[in-house]
Amino acid sequence: MTNRKVEAARAALQEVRSGMRLGLGTGSTAAEFVKLLGDALRDGTLRDIRCTCTSEQTEAQAREAGVPTFALYEVAPLDLAVDGADEIDRNLRLIKGRGGALLREKIVEQQALRFIVIADDSKIVERLGVGVLPVEVTPFAREVLERRFAEMGLAPVLRLRDGKPRVTDEGHLILDVRVPENVDVADCVARMREHAGVVDTGFFPTEATEAIIAGDDGIRRMTRG
Ligand code: 5RP
Repeated sequence: MTNRKVEAARAALQEVRSGMRLGLGTGSTAAEFVKLLGDALRDGTLRDIRCTCTSEQTEAQAREAGVPTFALYEVAPLDLAVDGADEIDRNLRLIKGRGGALLREKIVEQQALRFIVIADDSKIVERLGVGVLPVEVTPFAREVLERRFAEMGLAPVLRLRDGKPRVTDEGHLILDVRVPENVDVADCVARMREHAGVVDTGFFPTEATEAIIAGDDGIRRMTRG
């Protein structure tokens, strides 16, 4: 069986031209793109590519793959960012961050002229909020926000790794919340963001300009209308 993540990543690589400045996403699908980019630089198909990464994890992978990386300010604005997503709706709104990199992802992707989401078709949803919505919070506010979100019916759960609170690359914590079925994710996010201590959420309402979705019938493209 062909690997859909690889197919989507390969299609996104077709959009890369020598000399571009790129934003590299985080997660297993984005990792396929970084790997293919490294191969293309090594075999000379692409050259003079300058990248910035959305996580320490991707930074390490890029270095290993021979992909040149820079601080965001050195390469922004970016020609293109490529990243995965957890949920994608028909309006190209996304939920991201189940890999924990939501804040840097949003910062980088907002600096990109084009942001292509790559995914397999299991990520397409009728309504955002099928799974959890990650919310990045400051450690100082964590307990009170947890209590407040519970009162709002959002069933917050502190993200753990190896039995300890997961600390993001920006030094924050993540509360995974459930958006109630009768509430639109945008409204839910607006209410949460009224609370100081919420740094950002994994809701990406407008960042993606395109999506490349790999499924049984091949590649499907979505573009922001
Ligand atoms: C990380 C992310 C990822 O892009 C998202 O979780 C999708 O990951 P994968 O490609 O492994 O399914 O937002 O913070």
